[in-house]
Formats: sequence, C-alpha cells, structure tokens
Amino acid sequence: MRRWVSIVLWCASALLLAGLSASFPPEHTGVFTREAVAADHAAASRAGAEILAAGGNAADAAAATMLALGVVNPASSGLGGGGFALYYCAKDDSLTFFDFRERAPRAASRTMFDGDAERPDGPASAPSQLGGLASGVPGEAAGIEALISRFGSLSLREIVAPALRLAEEGFEVSDALAGMGSAFETQLRGDPVMGMWNLQAGATLRRPSLARVLRAFADAGAAVIYGGVIGQEMVAAVQKQGGVMTLQDLRAYRVRRREPLETTAFGHRWVTAPPPSAGGFTMIQSLSILERAVGPAPNYGAPLLHAMAESWKGPFLDRERYFGDPDQVILPLDKMMGAERIAKRAALAAEGTAQPSAAYELPVEWAGSRITTPDNAGTSHLCVVDAAGNVASVTTTVNLPFGARFTAGGVVMNDEMDDFASEIGKANAFGLPGGARNLPGPWKRPVSTMSPTIVFDNGGPVLCVGASGGSRIVTATQQVAMNILLHGMNAGEAVAAPRIHHQGVPQTLQVETVAPLDSALQDELRARGHHIEPIYNIGTVQVIQIQRSPDRRIYAASDPRKGGRPTGH
Ligand code: DON
Repeated sequence: MRRWVSIVLWCASALLLAGLSASFPPEHTGVFTREAVAADHAAASRAGAEILAAGGNAADAAAATMLALGVVNPASSGLGGGGFALYYCAKDDSLTFFDFRERAPRAASRTMFDGDAERPDGPASAPSQLGGLASGVPGEAAGIEALISRFGSLSLREIVAPALRLAEEGFEVSDALAGMGSAFETQLRGDPVMGMWNLQAGATLRRPSLARVLRAFADAGAAVIYGGVIGQEMVAAVQKQGGVMTLQDLRAYRVRRREPLETTAFGHRWVTAPPPSAGGFTMIQSLSILERAVGPAPNYGAPLLHAMAESWKGPFLDRERYFGDPDQVILPLDKMMGAERIAKRAALAAEGTAQPSAAYELPVEWAGSRITTPDNAGTSHLCVVDAAGNVASVTTTVNLPFGARFTAGGVVMNDEMDDFASEIGKANAFGLPGGARNLPGPWKRPVSTMSPTIVFDNGGPVLCVGASGGSRIVTATQQVAMNILLHGMNAGEAVAAPRIHHQGVPQTLQVETVAPLDSALQDELRARGHHIEPIYNIGTVQVIQIQRSPDRRIYAASDPRKGGRPTGH
C-alpha cells in the first residue's frame, strides 16, 4: 500500500512538473478523412502517419509508432519491454490478438522476491522494480515482427526508418519525459547511457546507442535480440545488474496469439485483451454488470458513476484470486462470467450506497484449480486506423517509468517482474495485491491490466481505445469509450473529461485533480458511502472514433494529460 501511494505521488509530481492544467488546449484532437494515428507523443504519431503516407497499412504504422515511442519516450516503452496488440483486418473482417508480454527468466521462482524490502535507493527500488532481477524477458521486438509478418506490407527497414531518424538526429524532450526524468533523476544518473541524458524540457536528445540497435534490428530482424549479438549484450547487462536472464531465455521467447475476450453491451460489440491481462476481463464484466444495474441507456451522473465504481470491485477481487499466466494456470473464465454471478453483482451495484468490496467476492468452484508448470520449463497506448479500414490497438510497456532503470546497449530494460505477486497478498506498485496463481515462475507471464480494445457496431469498427496507467488502465479506457458511445461526447471531449477509479482494495474512490469531477457529483458519491481520494490523474488514454456515414470521418485524440498529439490525413 505504501509503495503504491508513493508511485502515484511520483507519477503525479512528474506530470505536475510537466505543467499540465485542468483546462486542456484543443490540440490533442484531430479530424481526418482517410487515416489517423493517436499516440502519446506527437513525434510518434507523425512516425506512424509517415508510414501510412508511404503506403503502409495499420500494422506497419503501429509498428513504426511503437518503435518511435521507444525512442522519444524511453520512460514508457521500448525494445526492452513488451505489450499487447489487437488487430482488425478489414479484408476478411478478422481480429487477431498478439501477446508479446515479457515473461520471467527460466531461473525465476515463486520465492525469488520473498522478504525483499524496498531499498533506500529512491522511488520504486524494491528488487522486483529496480535492477536486473526486475526485468522480464522482453517481447517488444518479437511482437513487432509478428504483427508485421502477419499483416504488414512494407519492409522492416522502411518501418524502422522514422524511429532511427529520431534516434540519430535527435528529438525534443517532452514535458512529460522531463517530469519523469526529474522524478527518477538519482537512479538514472547511475546508468552510463541514461546518466548522460539532458532531460530538460525542450532540449534535443540524441540516442546513438539505440540507433545502433535499431539499425541491427532493421537489418537482421528480431533474431538479433533473440539469440543474436544485441541479445548477448542484453543478457550481459541484466546479469551485471544482478539478474538471472540468459541467452536461452531470449532464444526461447515466443509471441502468443490468443483469442480476444468480447461481450455485447450498450448496443455494441466490445473486443479486448484476454489473460494474461485482467484488464479486458474487468472491462467486459463491468459492462455486463452496468447494463443490468443501470439499464441500456444511462445518463451521465452520480447513479452511473456510483454503479461503475461498484462494478469494478468484484473483477478486481477475481484478479487477485484467479488470474495468472493462462499458459501455466487454468482460468475459470466461463464461471467467472456466469450469468447468475453477474446478476448478483449487478443487484449489489444497483443498491444506492457503496458496498464493502468483500460483498462482491462470490467465489467460483471449478475442477481445474491445479497450477500447471510448462513442459520445459512505464506503458503507452496507440491507435491506428488506415484508409482500408484496418485498426491497430496497441499497448506497450516497460512497467514503471524507465523500467528497471538500467540500459542494455541503449535499450531501457523493463521491470515487469513487479507485475507478479512478489509474495502472496503483498501489493505491487499499483496497489494490486498478489495472488498465489500470479507468483513468479519459469517462463511465466505476469498478470497485466493492459486493455487494448476495439468496439464495433453492426457495420464494423467504431472505436479504437486503450490506456496506460497501471491498474487504472482499464477503468480509464472504459470511461472514455462510454463517454463517446453512451454520452455523445466527441473523441477530444471524451478523453479530456474527468475520470474516476475504484479497484476494490483499498476501499477508496479516486477522482482526478487535473480534471476535477463536478463537486456536486463528488458530494453525491460521498453521500452514497464512497470514500473519495483525489489523485492527479487516472490513466493516459488514446482513442480514435470512426464515423462511416454520412461521410467518412476519423476523430482522433491523444490524452492531454501526457501532452500527446494525433496525426492523420
Ligand atoms: O501490464 C501492466 O498492467 C503494467 N505493467 C502497466 C504499467 C503502466 O501502465 C505504467 N504506466 N503508466
């Protein structure tokens, strides 16, 4: 709990340093007729749009945007991290979900973080958060390769080009990066690459060592990391920092294609991330509960906000109790989504006052509670819509800002191991208590909240949406989607609007100070028994709304909370 509070404070102070205010300027939105990219950094959106203009499709552009994000916002994502991509292919009306999440090294064990205390090394300094043991085997390069080999149309060299240019020629340090840099300054100073960076807002930053890695990736593909020379450097850097990752771990890494989760709610088909994300499950369960609790067309107001807060309590408890890597634990998803269980939770959510989280527990019984073992044994969301109607919804992460806060060949290494339960019941950086099924283990993927989502009506996709923000990813994503689909806001308004968050434990309803919820609404929620806790912001959301008639229009918005800008044509 203490760790969580402090993470929120660092991130808040980082954004405060970035000088954001509640009155967001309108530049975070754009209206286009052909195609668009919404990322949380203008240069990354431009990189994707450049690829679209060169004839690339949404897969090519998403890959280019991911690579550019890794250059211009090393606090949030990059080749040392991993993520999830949900891709809609218009030609055959198909959906494909790529899981390129980091996984634990083979030498990881359930007890590897037992008794580890936060060290007096500044923020986020527990061994699952800082240094070599914190890094999972990265999946980003493999994910990019899987996405473009299946759906892309341009060469890897063409796709890497905009990111390589940014790394070689330099880019302007954003307010958000400067804020993060300042919050983690002492730790960054200890790294030979990051320690040399000038992270003043507006300064030009070049990344020659990352440019070398990008060139190697463009020439030889992901193999250069998964066993090749860059991989060898990565393993050496991780081991120097006390980690246990080996070249075999990199060689054995595999992207998984999974069936996305989906539900029909509020007149739309919502498609989102399956396990190891618990975010997608939280969203579809919340939507199903809400539809029953408040009816099919609720107005924006205290009754809806109250029911929404209540709807998240049960799924967050389920996350702790049942979720783990679906390749290693059996998840009783059908039982968790059972109609009777949803009806019970909806009835509780329809009560006028806040219920204790435990009331939503409703344990499920299932035969497969066995925990299996394998045979051998910082975050950014982007949306792309192209002229052919393909849609890419991608969330990519190094977990906490600047990941484990060391680099390997200029690549910032993730600290995704903190998404495991370091001990049963112990909270991670986002206050999510760890469950037994999410303890670390060989080649296991940690449970995530990342929820890249695409929403459809009968005629096709209408929304691409997702977020960064730890446990708040799913609640932020869901609210922005509902703002558009239920409350008639445009993309820019939907992203800028105030958000709330509840994750069951602790029993507090968070509201934003950067976009304050109307005070009368706050009073009403207090009167319903919610303990209101202000925090600076709840997630960073990118969204693209697709209008098919009367004319094709693409409304794109990047979250003004992080200063992103969309681009398109
Ligand atoms: O996978 C997850 O849920 C986390 N690693 C996401 C972390 C995150 O969003 C941090 N950023 N703001």
